[in-house]
Amino acid sequence: MRNATPTPINLRPKRSVAAPNDLLAAMSRQVVGQDGSLESIVPYVQMYQAGLAPEGRPVGVFLLLGPTGTGKTRTVEALAEAMHGSPKNLLRIDCGEFQMEHEVAKLIGAPPGYLGHRETTPLLTQQKLNAATSERSNLSIILFDEIEKAALSLNRLLLGVLDKATLKLGDNTTVNFERSLIFLTSNLGARGMSGELRPDFGFDALVQKPRRNLSRKLESIAMRAVKKRFSPEFVNRVDVISTYLPLDNTALNRILDLLLDDFRRLILHRLGQRAFAVEVSRGAREFLLKRGTSPEYGARELKRVVHRNLIQPIAAMVAQGLVLPGAIVCAEGKASDEKLRIEAIPV
Ligand SMILES: Nc1ncnc2c1ncn2[C@@H]1O[C@H](COP(=O)(O)OP(=O)(O)O)[C@@H](O)[C@H]1O
Ligand SMILES: [Mg+2]
Repeated sequence: MRNATPTPINLRPKRSVAAPNDLLAAMSRQVVGQDGSLESIVPYVQMYQAGLAPEGRPVGVFLLLGPTGTGKTRTVEALAEAMHGSPKNLLRIDCGEFQMEHEVAKLIGAPPGYLGHRETTPLLTQQKLNAATSERSNLSIILFDEIEKAALSLNRLLLGVLDKATLKLGDNTTVNFERSLIFLTSNLGARGMSGELRPDFGFDALVQKPRRNLSRKLESIAMRAVKKRFSPEFVNRVDVISTYLPLDNTALNRILDLLLDDFRRLILHRLGQRAFAVEVSRGAREFLLKRGTSPEYGARELKRVVHRNLIQPIAAMVAQGLVLPGAIVCAEGKASDEKLRIEAIPV
């Protein structure tokens, strides 16, 4: 028999994690152009670090809205990395996997005696929450990603979590969410938004539009969709609602820099003495940005495009012994090219 009473948990933070400015700086290094959202997260972490987060509810509940590929999921990963040292150190529920009512039941597991009880380990257990902490902090980050895809019963289940910070599992044990930051991401209203984002005369026109107007428009489209989908009680229990803005050219260029920096770090880290430099010309950057970004899908494809068109061809050259240690690998091209020209120049 399992114990039905919840395990008491210590609500005090383990020891202080990164100072708030460091936390913001660490997240800003990973997430480009969404400062408002990042700034709104910090005070909740601080409240927890100070030991002053209210009892009986999660430390913070955030609803991240806005067009696809603008950094909503990345934000939560960046927070996990800043707090726990790895972007994977979070409990992630991909709501697309819970589109049917019976799938939602998997989150809490079947009651004892029910068919399938033994096979169903609930996905939202106290152990799983605790596993999403680290040496540095005992605050768990929980991500319900793309919440609009889940069956409606997930909303009911979440309501209790958001309100009382507890969830009753099928086996009658209780999970405590008082030491958790809960993130809900959603593309709700995305269709309405893409009307705003696909102006008559192309991507650049979008960037020319005053951002404040656009931001207000997207916010109201998103909120209208949220109110249609979630009850007022549900919306009331959310602490912060952020609407992510589409990324402009400057932001997309910075994201490309982040991806190229990651690649350069990987080369140094993995190849050590055999490392080489990578230079990407302006035209080659345009090639990558043209294929990897769009007003509709944001920067979603950029990583894949960089992999396919830059990292994989360079890896093939390395595997064939064509890149000598200390060489400079240059990628050149232009937006309209079929592929990049990549050449290793020995030093
Ligand atoms: N604002 C951003 N800052 C940095 N990278 C971003 C940003 N937006 C998108 N990306 C890149 O695109 C990928 C997909 O973004 P993601 O956060 O998953 O989008 P969504 O808003 O749909 O959740 C990320 O893994 C990252 O490489
Ligand atoms: Mg996402």
